[in-house]
Amino acid sequence: MSEPAQHVLPPSWQLSEKVAVVTGGSRGIGRAIATTLAARGAKVAVNYTKNEAAAAAVVDAIKAAGGEAMAIGFDVADPAAVDAGIKAVKEAFGGLHILVNNAGISIDALLLRASLDDLHKTLAINLSGAFTCAKAAARHLLRARADGRIINISSVVGEQGNAGQSMYAASKAGLIGLTKSLARELAGRGVTVNAVTPGFIETDMTAAAIQGDAREALLKSIPLGRIGAPEEVAEAVAFLASPAAAYITGHVLRVNGGLNI
Ligand SMILES: NC(=O)c1ccc[n+]([C@@H]2O[C@H](COP(=O)([O-])OP(=O)(O)OC[C@H]3O[C@@H](n4cnc5c(N)ncnc54)[C@H](OP(=O)(O)O)[C@@H]3O)[C@@H](O)[C@H]2O)c1
Repeated sequence: MSEPAQHVLPPSWQLSEKVAVVTGGSRGIGRAIATTLAARGAKVAVNYTKNEAAAAAVVDAIKAAGGEAMAIGFDVADPAAVDAGIKAVKEAFGGLHILVNNAGISIDALLLRASLDDLHKTLAINLSGAFTCAKAAARHLLRARADGRIINISSVVGEQGNAGQSMYAASKAGLIGLTKSLARELAGRGVTVNAVTPGFIETDMTAAAIQGDAREALLKSIPLGRIGAPEEVAEAVAFLASPAAAYITGHVLRVNGGLNI
């Protein structure tokens, strides 16, 4: 009996010769994005802020699979650290083509218990962080021209809101505005800018919220009837990063099991 045919991705889906930075690549969705981009051939810089060991484990996994990766620690809310981090990646890998703004936090509270400090902290990482990384990477991405990509990880919550998540929703809705404006601004140089809006994905961020009764209620609200996996978000990001998506810009790609249609 003959072997089944191997499924080989067409060249336009491959990322050979590309260099990518994934912020918050040490855990959850970012980890899946980093490993998927590397599997498609990209050299990947795995950013973290606290969890150096987790970032090192992602780098080890990529190298064990035959890919190229480096860990790069910086806080996306610290512009000087972002500049230094992006510069270090450029020097190590010789260029920069793909920026994935994935780093994010969620501080959940109803309005009467929410604080301005928590709002500012959320915006500083989720929104200003993406802005700062885009600004630091722009020079290199513009040089990459038609290969230049910015992909912002927003959220279904930024599209439709969620009680108890006003601070997070504001940051993620802002990210969509940032995406659409930068898409218009950078299109003339061939750089595309898109957002991905995941629904509920199984990671550290959602671990507490999607247990027990809450999980059952949640599953009923998702037409596909299940929580998503980080790899399912990563597939969408890898497509937007690839030459196959060269004519897609300013788009918001929902990866949510039908939660928001
Ligand atoms: N999980 C979901 O259901 C879901 C749904 C929609 C959107 N999202 C979005 O997807 C992204 C990833 O979420 P996740 O669920 O994978 O989260 P997670 O498991 O909590 O991981 C968060 C990642 O962000 C990094 N990070 C946090 N603050 C940072 C900072 N100031 N500078 C640099 N890195 C920072 C963390 O680094 P350390 O390891 O160093 O702490 C970690 O790698 C977030 O933007 C989130 O809002 C998630």
